[in-house]
Amino acid sequence: MAEELKSVATELPQALGSATLSQLEAMAETKKLFLTKVIWVHHWTQGLFSFRVERPRSLRFRSGEFVMIGLKDGDKPLLRAYSIASPSWEEHLEFFSVKVREGPLTSRLQHLDVGNYIFVSKKPVGTLIIDALKPGKRLFMVATGTGLAPFLSVLRDPETHEKFEEIIITHTVREQEELAYRNFLETEIHDDEIFGELLKDRFTYYPTVTRGEFQTRGRITNRIRSGEFAADIHLSNNRFNPITDRVMVCGSMAFNKEMAGMLEAHGLVEGHNNNPGSYVLERAFVG
Ligand code: A2P
Repeated sequence: MAEELKSVATELPQALGSATLSQLEAMAETKKLFLTKVIWVHHWTQGLFSFRVERPRSLRFRSGEFVMIGLKDGDKPLLRAYSIASPSWEEHLEFFSVKVREGPLTSRLQHLDVGNYIFVSKKPVGTLIIDALKPGKRLFMVATGTGLAPFLSVLRDPETHEKFEEIIITHTVREQEELAYRNFLETEIHDDEIFGELLKDRFTYYPTVTRGEFQTRGRITNRIRSGEFAADIHLSNNRFNPITDRVMVCGSMAFNKEMAGMLEAHGLVEGHNNNPGSYVLERAFVG
């Protein structure tokens, strides 16, 4: 009996707000949220981690969308927007997060462990979806920090490969250690049974580091403007082509603004779910 009680009481440990499974279920029911179990946690650095939860059976989403996720906070859930990093066909949901010491949610979320439960909202939304882009030839996905998350989803959606001939992901971070998913994007995806073949000679991963040693240093915006990016990946022109190029942007507010300014100057037009364009953008949410 004592053992049983103990196992129920640890469904959500103290660092995550102590709650029993039945309390969490009751809150999820009242607030119309899913309650899902954590099945994998990976810490990249002191400030970055990823985790997976079981996918609620009835949750449907389009690759690139985000949901609200969170924990019990007293008598209500504390929720924040998180892009889903896994593709829409995957059986789990993956998230990529910063750990902020003073962050109301991430200061607690970073203690997640396998077997804990989190809330997930029922209606995924977002603009970083293939449907918000007009048909094109090349798809550029330009990210800073955890803005990479939605692109990990879009990259593994078969629709992306049907609609685009070439796919380029850029990821700009401060320090090399923050290049989360680097091994996945450089090596593992090429060894994947399905994507290895699909991406062969059609996919470029372009990481840049702004505050430490690395082979490609500096902000992606500066490297595009200077022509280094075009030269490095053998593009014939260092301007985006509004007829053939489509761009997805996800990062900090300042980064998004700067990228949007550059894209508009190159003749690209922002797309929306009900009105596709040549580029789309969304702020990387938490952090
Ligand atoms: P920098 O180190 O030059 O500020 P953060 O950790 O602050 O979210 O930033 C993530 C990465 O995004 C950093 O490498 C940062 O470069 C870069 N960055 C921030 N603002 C911009 C911007 N306006 N344009 C391009 N890159 C940016």
